[in-house]
Amino acid sequence: MSQQYFDQIDQLQNEIRAAEITSADELEQFRIRFLGTKNILKPLFGKIREIEAADKSRFGQAINQLKQAAESKFRDLQAGLQDATDQEAHGLDLTAPAAPADLGARHPVSLTMNRIIEIFQKLGFSVAEEREIEDDWHNFTAMNTPEDHPARDMQDTFYLMGSVERLLRTHTSSVQARVMTTQQPPIRIIAPGRVYRNETISARSHCQFHQVEGLYIDEHVSFADMKQTLLHFAREMYGPDTRIRLRPSYFPFTEPSAEMDVYWGLESETDYRITKGTGWLEILGCGIVDPNVLDNCGIDSEKYTGFAFGMGIERQAMLKYNISDIRWLFENDVRFLRQFASVV
Ligand code: PHE
Repeated sequence: MSQQYFDQIDQLQNEIRAAEITSADELEQFRIRFLGTKNILKPLFGKIREIEAADKSRFGQAINQLKQAAESKFRDLQAGLQDATDQEAHGLDLTAPAAPADLGARHPVSLTMNRIIEIFQKLGFSVAEEREIEDDWHNFTAMNTPEDHPARDMQDTFYLMGSVERLLRTHTSSVQARVMTTQQPPIRIIAPGRVYRNETISARSHCQFHQVEGLYIDEHVSFADMKQTLLHFAREMYGPDTRIRLRPSYFPFTEPSAEMDVYWGLESETDYRITKGTGWLEILGCGIVDPNVLDNCGIDSEKYTGFAFGMGIERQAMLKYNISDIRWLFENDVRFLRQFASVV
């Protein structure tokens, strides 16, 4: 006798569990059926009198659970319907495909620097990175540029507030001093990094820029070795037919010193403008390491010789990617940076 009512409770439990609605109307029908004044559970409550004494309390529990299930299901359905209405109101379509994630891009300066590093690494140079805040000794004195040396005026230096010792390095040549005071030859390094000079900011120059320094010290390293290394670099970077020329120059830390030009051509109006009508473009300074520099850093200048070079990155990046104003490279405007997203 009792079993029939227990079965009925089970059935209703299943029905409640499985209930689904898609509209306010259907929600209302659910409410009327299970929670309304004449709801379907009510008659069951009356049946408790007919249940055998032994089953009475179990029946009471079962029917109370049924009522709670109906109430909590109603709240869930109601909340679900509310969410759906909210999403519709805000035009949210959860089945729409996700917007693609924004991918970062390499900065043109990094792209150019990485390419340069790659070329020299294949020749056996390893990367040495050093501090941007330097002391006077590593940036100038060790590099054969003592105080009151006129060459200090070549590079307008940013000093740290209230200090005559601490400065922002004006060139990556300071890394030469760092490496030579801690390692003995053979030394074969390149040093990429940021440098600072107190220059007026314009389309062509900035107070911060990047250089890659190179240093090779061993027994019998010659000017010819340097020239061949730099020719190889130029041809890897700018194509197999690239021509270079070395012009005599002056740096306190190299003797003899030179500046290297690559032949850019004189085909267009722009070629005329960027090469100042010569067709040649200067990309780096170089030379044989001055024996004074070796001595300053504790390397035997009777035994060892070496060459060094330092090149600017921005100029080369601007050439490679046709960028007409250096300031673009430091403003981090995403409309500019995004254009390099597909460059590897
Ligand atoms: N440090 C020099 C500059 O910044 C470049 C250079 C490096 C020249 C090494 C010779 C040797 O202009």
